[in-house]
Amino acid sequence: MTEHTITLRVNGLEESRTVPSNQTLLSFLRDTLDLTGAKEGCGEGECGSCIVLVDDKPVNSCLMLAVEADGCSVTTIEGIGDASRLHPLQSAFLAHTAVQCGFCTPGMILAGLALLRENPSPTEAEIRSALSGNLCRCTGYRQIIDAVLAAAAAMRGEAARAPEEKTG
Ligand code: FES
Ligand code: FES
Repeated sequence: MTEHTITLRVNGLEESRTVPSNQTLLSFLRDTLDLTGAKEGCGEGECGSCIVLVDDKPVNSCLMLAVEADGCSVTTIEGIGDASRLHPLQSAFLAHTAVQCGFCTPGMILAGLALLRENPSPTEAEIRSALSGNLCRCTGYRQIIDAVLAAAAAMRGEAARAPEEKTG
């Protein structure tokens, strides 16, 4: 197997590793760097659970080779916040119960982040379009859309709308 040495920035830190030419970026992140936030769902570009940002664009990391990320800047869910300092999107997903098993959540949040960086005031339709490549098998999309809307408001410095009370 041919190997290549690649150098990239991951969550702001420079990483230089020698990788097999057929290793995906997802495997590189999870198995080589132990960043296990990005998940392998389908492995073929259909579910979005493996989405990370590559040079600020959302990418299905199961479809990108690690060698293709040479020289790039990669952001994973581990790079945007942690338990002691949640990103507004992470806080909003919790507040709106937009997480159940959590398998889809890192990809959802990073796709949402890419959208909000380009469009700080998206409509619901724009959010649905931006997340159209992300599948959730358990939460349902209403809470996820509400969470992104709330995070957008919070990131604009507006008071986030409280989750609607459930009745019945
Ligand atoms: S695991 Fe990459 S799109 Fe499903
Ligand atoms: S929360 Fe389980 S797949 Fe979305």
